[in-house]
Amino acid sequence: MYQVVRYLGWLVVVLYLLSVDRYFLRIGPFKKMDAVKPLKGFLVKFHKPLGIVTLVIALVHANLAFTNISPSLTGTLTFLTMLIVVVFGILMHFKKIELKNVKTHRFMSILIVVLITLHVFLPYVFL
Ligand code: HEM
Ligand code: HEM
Repeated sequence: MYQVVRYLGWLVVVLYLLSVDRYFLRIGPFKKMDAVKPLKGFLVKFHKPLGIVTLVIALVHANLAFTNISPSLTGTLTFLTMLIVVVFGILMHFKKIELKNVKTHRFMSILIVVLITLHVFLPYVFL
């Protein structure tokens, strides 16, 4: 079970990177690179379902980790931040909040990078 939890954790990381990449592909050296154009199109098209799938798999990982291994505060913080990101995304999609909230959505999704790093290298640093 430990291995299953680990694989699921890494799957969440990959899916998360695909969700967040649409920002990174828009800035810096990638901005003008023709090679990344098709990838960008794909990521923008599937951004919303991808984000939701990421959260669902994170929930499965968290649930299995919680019941079979141990609770993890860093993991919980990562998950809660991801939940806020997805809720913001959904609210923007249904126009319940303005699109300018994408700044919060983006900031929190970058914060997840820090939290995932902490969770992977020091899973029990706070607890
Ligand atoms: C979005 C949220 C999350 C992501 C991206 C994530 C990612 C990961 C990854 C990649 C690993 C494997 C680390 C390794 O190879 O050693 C892992 C392990 C683990 N995760 Fe998560 N995780 C998340 C949420 C959670 C939550 C909410 C919990 C709390 C119950 C949790 C509990 C654990 C535990 C107990 C391990 C095993 C740690 C160990 O003993 O090495 N994770 N997670
Ligand atoms: C793990 C989950 C997610 C991450 C990491 C994430 C990340 C991002 C990032 C970084 C941007 C900014 C792109 C830019 O500045 O060019 C963005 C934009 C956006 N995201 Fe997400 N997102 C996630 C899930 C979702 C979900 C589930 C929805 C809606 C159902 C959503 C809706 C949006 C919308 C509406 C925008 C901006 C407007 C647009 O161009 O479509 N996101 N997201």
